[in-house]
Amino acid sequence: MRAHLQNMAPQLSSFISIALLFAVAFANFGQQAHGSVVEFSYAGLRGPANWGNLNPKFSTCSSGKLQSPINIIKNEAVENKSLTPLTRVYKRGNAILVNNGFNIGLRYEGNCGVLIVDGKNYTFKQMHWHSPSEHHIDGVQYAAELHLVHLSDSGAIAVVSMLYELGDADPFISKITNKLGDLAKDAYAGNEEAHIPIGPLDNKLLRKNTRKYYRYIGSITSPPCTENVIWNVLGKVRTISKEQVEALKAPLGADYKQNSRPLQSLNGRKVELYNEFSD
Ligand SMILES: *[C@@H]1O[C@H](CO)[C@@H](O)[C@H](O)[C@H]1NC(C)=O
Ligand SMILES: *[C@@H]1O[C@H](CO)[C@@H](O)[C@H](O)[C@H]1NC(C)=O
Repeated sequence: MRAHLQNMAPQLSSFISIALLFAVAFANFGQQAHGSVVEFSYAGLRGPANWGNLNPKFSTCSSGKLQSPINIIKNEAVENKSLTPLTRVYKRGNAILVNNGFNIGLRYEGNCGVLIVDGKNYTFKQMHWHSPSEHHIDGVQYAAELHLVHLSDSGAIAVVSMLYELGDADPFISKITNKLGDLAKDAYAGNEEAHIPIGPLDNKLLRKNTRKYYRYIGSITSPPCTENVIWNVLGKVRTISKEQVEALKAPLGADYKQNSRPLQSLNGRKVELYNEFSD
């Protein structure tokens, strides 16, 4: 037994060195230029396949059965005549451009409006971009995706998602492109807070094209992968320019420039379709 243990010792010490190496690698992976620490990544050991093991709080990422994103197959989406238009009452609000470490987003001060789903109000909280897109439609992955996140008083989450294909510049992103440049410089300067106030932003541009959407029950697409999120993926694909995709990536660290989670299993879930124009 003793001899056996002695034989094990070199292996044990090399195991410890490897564990230490991992610990250092993890610290580097998670360290963002602006100082905040993101525990997960989109590549390597902290990548999506391991999210569920990184922290007990993230276990739903691997054990959950209602995960997002998914591939939406148009032919398999079931039209639901009981679905109602996505009523969104967005107000002009003071926006703050934020580098969340794993994506770029806008947060709003105060009450910036509501999304009404099945008669229930969900307050608009924030929006953020992923590129390439997280949801696919008929197997097609798009250049980018915007998530508008809304929260009810009881903590229920409803997201409106917009897909972008490469083409003309998106007029809403055009309004913040200069500030994205500032955010990138800010991050490289190592500032603690990569937050840039951008004042009143007209959210009217975000309300367009909601005559067709896909509804399903899924999750947040980053840890902790919280489930029972009401997803509303708009059927109308918008355009984004190549420069805008680059501007959204520029402030992010190397492991977050491609920040889309791989597709998740449907596990028997049905995708419903709302189509204003069908009879
Ligand atoms: C259709 O939509 C309504 C309203 O959201 C919902 O209550 C109902 O369960 C849906 N029906 C089906 C078959 O998914
Ligand atoms: C829901 O939002 C609408 C639009 O802002 C508002 O008129 C209504 O009073 C709200 N309902 C509740 C229950 O807060």
